[in-house]
Amino acid sequence: MPFDLVIKNGTIVTAVSTIQTDVAIQGDKIAAIGNSLQGTNEIDAYGKLVIPGGVDIHVHLEMPIGKFTSTDDFYSGTRAAALGGTTTIIDFVEAKPEQPLLEAYLERQTLAKSKSVIDFGLHMTITPTDIPKLEQLPEVAEAGCKTYKLYMAYGHRLTDDALYKAFQAIKKVNGLPVIHAENWDIICALIEENVANGRVSPHWHSRSRPEEFEAESVHRVIKIAERVGLPIHIFHVSCDAVVQEIQAARAKGIPVTGETCPQYLFLSQELYDRPGVDGTLPVCSPPLRPKPENDKLWHALANNDLQIVSTDHCPFTKEEKATGLNDFSQIPGGVPSIEMRFASVYQGVVNGRLSLNQWVNLCATAPAKLTGFHNKGHIGVGYDADIVVFDPNLEKTISSQTLHETAGWTPYEGLLLKGWPKTTIVRGKILNLE
Ligand code: URP
Ligand code: ZN
Ligand code: ZN
Repeated sequence: MPFDLVIKNGTIVTAVSTIQTDVAIQGDKIAAIGNSLQGTNEIDAYGKLVIPGGVDIHVHLEMPIGKFTSTDDFYSGTRAAALGGTTTIIDFVEAKPEQPLLEAYLERQTLAKSKSVIDFGLHMTITPTDIPKLEQLPEVAEAGCKTYKLYMAYGHRLTDDALYKAFQAIKKVNGLPVIHAENWDIICALIEENVANGRVSPHWHSRSRPEEFEAESVHRVIKIAERVGLPIHIFHVSCDAVVQEIQAARAKGIPVTGETCPQYLFLSQELYDRPGVDGTLPVCSPPLRPKPENDKLWHALANNDLQIVSTDHCPFTKEEKATGLNDFSQIPGGVPSIEMRFASVYQGVVNGRLSLNQWVNLCATAPAKLTGFHNKGHIGVGYDADIVVFDPNLEKTISSQTLHETAGWTPYEGLLLKGWPKTTIVRGKILNLE
């Protein structure tokens, strides 16, 4: 009996092995791996890499932030993700102050389900108004939530006592906190000082969010988690000072993981000095750092001092970004990269920094494991048939004209990438989304 679909003669790359053979899919699962498998449908993958679909555990789709909503909705965002080889994303849910957490979770789930072309999960955000609702966490966990977003910045910022209480509640449901770590008090003081002195251009965005205070807040949140006794994951690490904190904690056996994002691997703070709206576009938090930090983060990925690359995809239009032209603190924060993540990290393989297996681990296997997607992120019998056929020789110059993201701009315009996904399969179905 032939299988439904066989991917033939490709080089199968997982986090632990690289072998040239066939993969067979039956229904929505991987059914066999081996030579000379027969399928009703077959894909010739000779000369291509056959890799698990990417897992991007940090995206903000149609996310309201202040007056604006991030440009990609659950359709355009997941379509762009899929075309870039990502088959699972994790987005966020925030409850309104009076809203039960479960109600907010189910509402957001229904919205995501109605538009998403790939699989998704949701991080339940715990804001200050949710601290009195922490006894509701078991209901949310029962509904399938495994990860909880805690901010140490912005209006959603939790003070240390609230972080402590939230950690205790998350521990009880065996959840994983995922953390935006910055020192909000210092940031507010520096913004105030800079704006009061007429230092209002985007140049001052990164100068108001110093590296050492990102590192300080990471140090602090790790200490609080250590005290409570639960693992935590640090989002969007922008600089080596933070890597040092994570590495030191891990060396002591403290269960902390860290991610970085394409913007911190490829872009640097000089971009804030571009004239006009162009300087506002790369505003994100934590901010872009000096150029030498890019290299240090690649090094941290190669050394397993950081374990995951996600995107923090959160784009706004040029017009929305321009509203902060005369006050950097009003620029809606976030950049797009949901489509180019997998291929962008492949450049680490091209330039010899990462092995093929490390690349797959960083973009698919490690994020799936960390967030409880135990059927995803790996090519093995019984796993979900989320598979990407990746052409290592296909060259692509990144341009907002050809990407499927909707911001209308990309900070990577003109970046030449070697290697790009050719075919994306989600739960056994070949996606045709061009
Ligand atoms: O500036 C950023 N990163 N915006 C998205 C929200 C966040 O902080 O992750
Ligand atoms: Zn964040
Ligand atoms: Zn984010």
